[in-house]
Amino acid sequence: MQRVVTRHVIDHKPRATDFTVADVATPDCPENGILVQVAYVSVDPYSGIALRGRHFGFPVPEPMLESPPTSVVGQVIESRCAGFAAGDWAYGDAGWEEIAALPAGKFYKIDPDRAPLSAYVGVLGMPGVTAWASAKHLAKVTQGDVVLVNAAAGPVGGTFGQLARVYGAQKVVGVAGGSTKCELVCNTYGFDACIDYKSDNWTEQLSAALPDGLTVFHENVSAEMTMLALSLAQPYARGVLCGLVDAYHGEAQGKHPVNAGAIIAKRAQLSGLVVFDFMPRYQEFVDELVPLISSGQLNYVEDSVDGLENLPALFEKLVDGNNIGKTLVAVNPPTS
Ligand SMILES: NC(=O)c1ccc[n+]([C@@H]2O[C@H](COP(=O)([O-])OP(=O)(O)OC[C@H]3O[C@@H](n4cnc5c(N)ncnc54)[C@H](OP(=O)(O)O)[C@@H]3O)[C@@H](O)[C@H]2O)c1
Repeated sequence: MQRVVTRHVIDHKPRATDFTVADVATPDCPENGILVQVAYVSVDPYSGIALRGRHFGFPVPEPMLESPPTSVVGQVIESRCAGFAAGDWAYGDAGWEEIAALPAGKFYKIDPDRAPLSAYVGVLGMPGVTAWASAKHLAKVTQGDVVLVNAAAGPVGGTFGQLARVYGAQKVVGVAGGSTKCELVCNTYGFDACIDYKSDNWTEQLSAALPDGLTVFHENVSAEMTMLALSLAQPYARGVLCGLVDAYHGEAQGKHPVNAGAIIAKRAQLSGLVVFDFMPRYQEFVDELVPLISSGQLNYVEDSVDGLENLPALFEKLVDGNNIGKTLVAVNPPTS
């Protein structure tokens, strides 16, 4: 079977040429786990830092043998787990591969009749859980909130803003790179405004979009943008620190001083978010979001390619911030 593997240890911003498609041994079905034929592979920013040994203790992948960690949707070929049988569909932790051994406790049953299968790696997968955890459980968005989120065209940012609206936010403002992304954020996700941070005077535009300040922000990008959001915050604003994608492949990672004075002055409540903490609530999350998708209150966009051989180029596009929507690879999608 095939897997996208690293050619060598990566100590730089990953490029497509750092990877190749290798023939590797089909894994055994793990004890209490399942073996799946992969239909969709998720491509995520965290895979980039995992490749470099900077993500929650994930080991650096062994060159020519391993890929970074990700999530997949697949159909069960073999099961050693009660409640799962061949033919069932599952979402769980795996690699960039066509057959995946999903370890005990790291997968969930999914229903292909409730939503398109590819949605389970995006809006109904880990990125969606992240947005839900942030909006509902950490920021606790409620009636009247004024909300700001960056990387707003992506699956985390876009879902966060739309859920904030569902929970009662009176205004939802996004920040994204480029006019195409901003049009998507306003026209498809229904944000009130989206500021293109690649345009001139964008911070002035952002201030103008938030004349009374913000009460909630969700940070995906950088410590600098966190400070900008804090500068626009009303007293007692809630901020969720989710990602620092701008620093993942630079030298600044882990070197940001905390501007404690700004936090004190704004009486801000800041929460760090790690999605793993919320995965045990996966079924509750799916049950809440599926009706929102069906009713059109929650929209999503996919940036997808077919075939594992095209994954490295898609990953490079994501690492460079050029993706529009959830990046994923269709490997063996169902034909009907
Ligand atoms: N804490 C957690 O448990 C958790 C879980 C899931 C995801 N996350 C984080 O959530 C954030 C969003 O994830 P996602 O999957 O929704 O990603 P995404 O939005 O699809 O892609 C990342 C986006 O980040 C923006 N970006 C800004 N500066 C960048 C830079 N220097 N290099 C590359 N991209 C840059 C780009 O959008 P623009 O052009 O609009 O800036 C890019 O499209 C990431 O930081 C991710 O690591 C955290």
